[in-house]
Amino acid sequence: MSMLQTSIAKHQDISRDVGGAAARLGVVDMPDLAYTPAVARETAALYERVRDHIPAIEWPVFAPYIHAINRLKKERGAVILAHNYQTPEIFHCVSDIVGDSLQLAREASDVDADIIIQCGVHFMAETSKLLNPDKTILIPDLKAGCSLSESITGADVRLLKEVNPGVPVVTYVNTSAEVKAETDICCTSSNALAVIESLDSDTVFCIPDEYLAQNIAKQTSKTILTWKGHCEVHERFTADELLAYKESDPRIQIIGHPECHPDVIAVCDFSGSTAGMIDYVKTERPSKVLLVTECSMASNVEAETPGVEFVKPCNLCPHMKRITLPKILDSLVHLKEEVTIDLQIAARARLAVERMIDLGK
Ligand code: 13P
Ligand code: SF4
Repeated sequence: MSMLQTSIAKHQDISRDVGGAAARLGVVDMPDLAYTPAVARETAALYERVRDHIPAIEWPVFAPYIHAINRLKKERGAVILAHNYQTPEIFHCVSDIVGDSLQLAREASDVDADIIIQCGVHFMAETSKLLNPDKTILIPDLKAGCSLSESITGADVRLLKEVNPGVPVVTYVNTSAEVKAETDICCTSSNALAVIESLDSDTVFCIPDEYLAQNIAKQTSKTILTWKGHCEVHERFTADELLAYKESDPRIQIIGHPECHPDVIAVCDFSGSTAGMIDYVKTERPSKVLLVTECSMASNVEAETPGVEFVKPCNLCPHMKRITLPKILDSLVHLKEEVTIDLQIAARARLAVERMIDLGK
């Protein structure tokens, strides 16, 4: 059984024990999903945000879900947090807060709602739970994992520390709570360098993303030790493929996520977290751009940056794509799937996340 499956099984057991949010607030009836004139009218403005990505003929399928989700989330007192990789209909039509991992973690600690629906992957929902132990954190699909998170266990980190005593451990936020609990401080792709520089040690572990660590190592004088974890989406890009795009049109600016191989980052005009990449496009307004990352993000930014042409090599994250409108609606109706974390693990993992958040203050 994989670590994610174990943790899912554990969570489901705990949820059964405590009854979960559903027991406290009750299940409501599944809303009617007819495309009525009222639904068409009330979702018309939202359609304008996604009209380049959803053909008009398909809107009658999307609109009733969007309408029902937006109504039910108000009735339930829920807030929807969505990562930048969510599909345009989720990102633009039902989410309350969007962002990269760091922004979502920060927002999760400020959210004024009893229920948070995390439209992203499991480690993101766990991070929200760590920062909001008293709130109900729901994820529409508990199987939305991450290849980086799956690459390492708490026992692996304990072994690394045993063999390298005294070396501080920085853990990428793309890890389970069990792994975070073994580490000194977390980081995301937007603050990894600042976190590493903040530590009073010449040698630092930056785990589990080998490429993120190698990319950061180029920017610091510290010795960076790492792990062989990779993002299954970003590792597919190659420098040759990007150079071929550039040759086809030298106007193309290439912007890459630091989970890509260092050879890929070397041919990029800019590298940053998903939020950093979005800021770059919004500020620099390149005439033509290629985002070397999960491809829903290009669609999401495209809707907000008219005049910028996007070249789209489409690598999708299968885990992010597990989150869909029907599953979000199901989450709101049944108040599931509740994310729970063993209390002792949570207490230690929370420290690592809070240290990271405090560093940015
Ligand atoms: P960001 O923190 O840059 O949003 O990255 C999260 C992620 O999963 C990238 O693959
Ligand atoms: Fe994980 Fe990569 Fe998917 Fe991000 S894109 S959630 S790092 S598998």
